[in-house]
Amino acid sequence: MSDELKRGLEGVLVAESDLSYVDGEVGKLVYRGYDIEDLARGASYEEVLYLLWRGSLPTREELDAFTADLAAERAVDDDALDAVRTLADAGERPMAALRTAVSMLSAYEPESDADPEDLDATLRQGRRITAKIPTLLAAFERARQGEDPVAPDPDLSHAANFLYMLTGTEPDDVSAETFDMALTLHADHGLNASTFTAIVIGSTMADVYSGVTGGIGALSGPLHGGANQDVMEVLQEVDASDKDPVQWVKDAREEGRRIPGFGHRVYKVKDPRAKILEEKLRDLSESSGDTKWLDYTTAIEEYLTEQGLLDKGIAPNVDFYSGSVYDSLGIPVDMYTPIFAMSRAGGWIAHMVEYQEDNRLIRPRARYTGPKASEFVPVDER
Ligand code: ACO
Repeated sequence: MSDELKRGLEGVLVAESDLSYVDGEVGKLVYRGYDIEDLARGASYEEVLYLLWRGSLPTREELDAFTADLAAERAVDDDALDAVRTLADAGERPMAALRTAVSMLSAYEPESDADPEDLDATLRQGRRITAKIPTLLAAFERARQGEDPVAPDPDLSHAANFLYMLTGTEPDDVSAETFDMALTLHADHGLNASTFTAIVIGSTMADVYSGVTGGIGALSGPLHGGANQDVMEVLQEVDASDKDPVQWVKDAREEGRRIPGFGHRVYKVKDPRAKILEEKLRDLSESSGDTKWLDYTTAIEEYLTEQGLLDKGIAPNVDFYSGSVYDSLGIPVDMYTPIFAMSRAGGWIAHMVEYQEDNRLIRPRARYTGPKASEFVPVDER
């Protein structure tokens, strides 16, 4: 047994996986061998889910059946929708509301008594969770706006239906395609912190609701999924001040602050997902004529490149551009991280099932640095 301590488990191999491969040195991401760029441009989120959960890309017929099965699970029990409304009225933060709501969904799971080793049942449960997360999130956002939930439309894609339930209006093709692309880009990413959380939970043979709930908790932190919201808040802060974006970054660096949307544990070059989203942002900004966020992000990236940050391996990550893209779709800032969860749930479920196929309880050790023999004194004598 090695006593070498690896803080943050950096570089430690804990599992084998066929799902996604990240080459942080060259900036490459593949899902089951398919380049993320090809999938983002050519496949729908439903196809990507099929690929992750079933192991190969679907034929047209397989995809149609899979899409219909997923869409059929979108409706959420009225009691769960009431709970979402209660959370919104209490001013709960969206990621915390989602965590509570997903956990509550298990009360309505028709296969809750399934054998934990029946991984087909786990996948069906995962499909229900994945289908219902957009419904929960849209209902939460509408409740905050004092609006009733919009019932899901089974004829719309996963991406288009979410935007429809959020706004009450069917999105145009560009918005639906852009959002679908963002979902594909966020669906899986190796053993990141939230996916690892999900497989740790799954390794106890706990149910998939527990794994997804835990994944949401891990993703909510500012060092992980919370960064996309932080990036947009910085852009908005710059916009509201009389500083230009470069001055804001200079000041932040002088104060020793980290720049959200930069740096990654694995990527030492620009994140390939950031490249695709940057291009999308460019298209959207040019077609709308509003290039403000594009100008700010470009100025920040250029300045940090000049300062040698990219040479040190601290490059833009997926969160640097996703917020600006969501803003162009009219999505509120504090819904960005929940949207990340909406997509990544597919990856969490795939990893849990893959890990459970050859399960071994995950149980590492900590090096004990506390006292070895403290003398116990009863409470009234201390
Ligand atoms: N801005 C400025 N400096 C940075 C940044 C940043 N965003 N990120 C890392 N650094 C610096 C650190 O200060 C450190 O410098 P030092 O060696 O002089 O002290 C060096 O880079 C290494 O940083 P670590 O914290 O050791 O890198 P780690 O791999 O642990 O961190 C992390 C990765 C947490 C993502 C970090 O880059 C960060 O905090 N980024 C900002 C938050 C962010 O964008 N998170 C989203 C990540 S992507 C995702 O989860 C989808």
